[in-house]
Amino acid sequence: MADEKMKRRKTMGVEPTVWQTTGLWARKLVLFIWVFVLGACSGESAESLANAHPGQATYNAACISCHNPGISGAPRLGDVDAWQPRLAKGRAVLVDSTINGLNAMPPKGMCWQCSDEDLGHAVDFMLEQVGASTKP
Ligand code: HEC
Repeated sequence: MADEKMKRRKTMGVEPTVWQTTGLWARKLVLFIWVFVLGACSGESAESLANAHPGQATYNAACISCHNPGISGAPRLGDVDAWQPRLAKGRAVLVDSTINGLNAMPPKGMCWQCSDEDLGHAVDFMLEQVGASTKP
């Protein structure tokens, strides 16, 4: 859009008619709306949601509040150093800690409606952020 303004300012020098500038602007606007609507109709956003990691939604809903800021010593998302000693325990133990809680980590991360599978996916998502394999 800044680019757009620059272009318009440049054409101002040769004094285009109001119709010319409006026409150009309107055409671009129509094109923009068309692309936007087309994108929405093709279900592009739904598609990218489906492509997201299956644990990401659970993480964003239940784990992010402690694991992004690192509340009470929670290993932060993507913090390789913080996760290193956890990774050594193996995925099964980590999922177990998640389900049953560990010290300041509440059972299920307080996501009472989450199934064990959801929690497993959330752990996988967190492990993936530190480049760890998520094979059980
Ligand atoms: C209320 C804050 C809080 C929430 C919410 C929370 N955690 Fe934690 N989590 C912690 C803390 C604190 C620790 C560190 C516990 C320790 O080692 O003493 C931790 C540790 C962990 C660990 C490492 C466990 C281990 O055995 O080393 C995993 C895995 C984990 N959390 C997953 C999750 C997942 C998945 C969610 C969301 C479903 C979640 N946490 C939600 C606070 C939280």
